[in-house]
Amino acid sequence: MKHIILIGFMGAGKSSVGKELAALLGIPFTDTDDIIEEQAQMKIAHIFQEYGEDYFRDLETLTLRQLLAVRQPMVVAVGGGLPLRAENRDYLRQLGTVFYLLAETDTLIKRLSGDQQRPILQGGGLREKITQLMADRGGAYDEAADIKLTTDDKSCRQIAEEIKTYV
Ligand code: S3P
Repeated sequence: MKHIILIGFMGAGKSSVGKELAALLGIPFTDTDDIIEEQAQMKIAHIFQEYGEDYFRDLETLTLRQLLAVRQPMVVAVGGGLPLRAENRDYLRQLGTVFYLLAETDTLIKRLSGDQQRPILQGGGLREKITQLMADRGGAYDEAADIKLTTDDKSCRQIAEEIKTYV
């Protein structure tokens, strides 16, 4: 079995579903944001603030290269902006099967309103931000995905069970 990769917009449920799925399959779970924070010994918001977004995106690419060396199959949730780089999409393909978790804008707004951890969402109207970013990013997500799943009105357990039928 190859790795199981979860991609999608912030708030799509990648980490929550990923943990549920990993428990269901009895394999480890990891999250590229957690790896980056642990290695940098810094919160993502702080990395953005101190070094800028491009630097963070380079760390995402480095993290994927590190994951390519891991033999044991894992569930891997990746940051919402990671699939935007063509190079990263190549790495994702090499790593395993890519599941794209989709959510409606209204669902994302419910899950993300009040968020203060994600630098990309700070300042300005949340709905406008999400709508614009989804329009910009949808193509990259589609390109990276092997399988697309909707998540609205489903529990993490339900989504994990659905993914399990493919692996
Ligand atoms: C980002 C998503 C975040 C995190 C960073 C940037 C993005 O991850 O990587 O704040 O550009 O969409 P989640 O999708 O896990 O929130």
